[in-house]
Amino acid sequence: MAHFTKATSVKDWLNQRLAIEKVEKVMASEYWIPKNINFLWAMGMVLVITFALLLVSGIFLLMYYQPNVNLAFDSVNYTIMREVDFGWLWRHVHGVAASVVFLIIYIHMFTAIYYGSYKKGREMIWISGMLLFVAFSAEAFSGYMLPWGQMSYWAGMVITNLFSGGSLHADGLVEWIRGDYVPAQAFLNRFFMLHVLLIPVAIMGLIGLHFGALRIPHVNNQDGEEIDFDAESKKYLAGDKAGSKVIRFANDFMSKDMMVVAIYLVFFFYLVFFHYDFAMDPVNFDPADGLKTPTHIYPEWYFLWSYEILRPFSTNIGLMAFAFAQVIFMLLPFLDRSPNAVPASRRGLFKFWFWAMLIDMIVLTSMGKVPPIEPFGTIGFYAALTFIGLWILLPIITIFEKKA
Ligand code: HEM
Repeated sequence: MAHFTKATSVKDWLNQRLAIEKVEKVMASEYWIPKNINFLWAMGMVLVITFALLLVSGIFLLMYYQPNVNLAFDSVNYTIMREVDFGWLWRHVHGVAASVVFLIIYIHMFTAIYYGSYKKGREMIWISGMLLFVAFSAEAFSGYMLPWGQMSYWAGMVITNLFSGGSLHADGLVEWIRGDYVPAQAFLNRFFMLHVLLIPVAIMGLIGLHFGALRIPHVNNQDGEEIDFDAESKKYLAGDKAGSKVIRFANDFMSKDMMVVAIYLVFFFYLVFFHYDFAMDPVNFDPADGLKTPTHIYPEWYFLWSYEILRPFSTNIGLMAFAFAQVIFMLLPFLDRSPNAVPASRRGLFKFWFWAMLIDMIVLTSMGKVPPIEPFGTIGFYAALTFIGLWILLPIITIFEKKA
């Protein structure tokens, strides 16, 4: 048993039992952040805030939502939207946050790719980030099932059909996932459980892992400078705050983060109050009907690029291309063979690779939204080939990259 003395204050009492001063130092006042980073490094905090908005609004929605195929649609579109005071507000917050979180995730991911923040000891930050991406995708998909509208039903049908494995004939797997021959009550129940329990818990664990993975390597910086955090923090603590290359996370850096979060929230609530419809598909305002297939089934915008990688090919090749697109980003730290953790602008061919990948994903996203008629079908096909080609090229161009 440790030695305890009579506490002089509540803080001291807690400190003796929970070492709160030490925790505060490790997580905040002596968690060192480089000075040379820009607003893009606030996206992590913006994501934390958006996730909190999703959790809180989700809890309010859960009080009135009914996970039953006969009641779900009305519980959302009638009870929550019309009967419950401010139910519409919580639904708009939840819907807008679910869409915007992907925009921020993509900005956060491409920032990391641009600055090479997945290299040299930062691989676990990247891998935990990609696991978060997968978990958020599953969370968004399962949530989309819950209003039990036409798009919920038919997107559920199309996505679960992917598990039939093409010519592999994984017979029975699709039915096992659905718990029925078609999406029905068992399907809604299990996706409800995944959406409100299992996946959110997994996300919280993964956020913990992501933060833990940041603690030792620290965040990267916009100049690709290798900072000696021990030496620089000693300088700071000795009083040379101007000369040190680092600052404390709290309260110093956090105040900058909060400035970006505040601007983001203005934009966010503007969407919630005036443009919430962008996050809601009109087709999903019709109740699910297993006998009426919508003319054009497409996923939400954030899945369109990977959907477009699946669509232009025959079933088997499409499934393989789709599987490739799902895992390949995870392998980025190992496919990029250059040790240069510097901005893409200083990395020769990688600079072109980065912009080509970004533009290609925007093209894939736009083509995924339109029906597969010409010339969109052909554009989508070449954009999908370019995506695969760029990943094959990556190890080749980076292995010859000069030291920056
Ligand atoms: C909702 C999910 C996420 C949350 C809450 C989150 C949170 C954070 C935070 C707070 C930081 C430190 C500050 C910053 O650089 O912004 C960070 C850094 C980082 N995140 Fe995420 N992140 C999430 C998803 C992702 C995803 C999907 C990826 C991509 C695979 C990713 C990759 C990274 C990387 C590589 C860094 C290090 C940046 C650097 O060293 O400069 N994160 N994240």
